[in-house]
Amino acid sequence: MTKPHVLQVGPYPEWDQGPLDRAFTMHCYFAAPDKAAFLADIGPQIRAIATRGDLGANAAMIAACPLLEVIGVYGVGYDAVDLAICRARGVRVTNTPDVLTDDVADLGIGMMLMQSRGMAGAEMWVRDGSWAAKGLYPLQRRVWGRRAGILGLGRIGHAVATRLAGFGMDIAYTSNTPKDNDWDYIADPVALAERSDFLFVTLAASPATRHIVGPAVIAALGAEGMLINISRASNIDEAALLDALETGVLGSAALDVFDGEPALNPRFLALPNVLLQPHHASGTFETRKAMGQLLRDNLTAHFAGQPLVTPVL
Ligand code: 8YV
Repeated sequence: MTKPHVLQVGPYPEWDQGPLDRAFTMHCYFAAPDKAAFLADIGPQIRAIATRGDLGANAAMIAACPLLEVIGVYGVGYDAVDLAICRARGVRVTNTPDVLTDDVADLGIGMMLMQSRGMAGAEMWVRDGSWAAKGLYPLQRRVWGRRAGILGLGRIGHAVATRLAGFGMDIAYTSNTPKDNDWDYIADPVALAERSDFLFVTLAASPATRHIVGPAVIAALGAEGMLINISRASNIDEAALLDALETGVLGSAALDVFDGEPALNPRFLALPNVLLQPHHASGTFETRKAMGQLLRDNLTAHFAGQPLVTPVL
């Protein structure tokens, strides 16, 4: 039996690549020196695209594959997949929700703690001899008991809030509708930011959420506030964020995602009040293995004519 031809947009770990190569004929887009020529050459055979949350599948890529049936995203976020075209063409889309939720939430909590308690600077204080030379490290800000806002109470936002409850924090959230929990529902993102010391951005990104964290939300969070983004860069107006961090309008930020990543705006690198992470919230062996398995399970189900495990479309 001929194996379905699959366009692979980015690299996967070897424990996923082996099984993918055995089940499908994989075509590595990321390794092709001339992407347009590569697509023109193999596109007509492609029945599936295997991609990642950060890479997606754009209109040109989809258009180059007239036989395309399904796109599998290794990641929960599918904002980089052109869903309108998929819908119009009847192309199915799958993602990897749930299996990464707790690791993403853990990283958000870790970023809050690290940034609020100045742990990166404190470690340097020990390593560079400042402790011995200068004495006590400057005092930092407490986390427990303070006010946290969750912008987007989906799976990941909920997992963040559950963890914050363990820190005795006063929790509020924004979502499309109030949910059945003990936390305060606040519909307006600016009002949420106003009552928050820490604002977590956990929204699934879409054109509707683009720059939802703009100048007004950032100013409302204020000079003592911290913004933590474990969703997508597009949810934040990055130019406004940089201005606010540089001028002290916003106290600090902890960010796992950036416009144009991995080539982030160099202004970030000069800022002392920002913690930078390399889009790594799902980056544990355990979660990445589960994501790879779920990606394969979806593709296998599709080609076996069975229901998709985690369909988006
Ligand atoms: C990436 C992600 O898929 O889940 C998502 O939406 O962005 C991540 O898990 C991961 O970085 C692998 O590329």
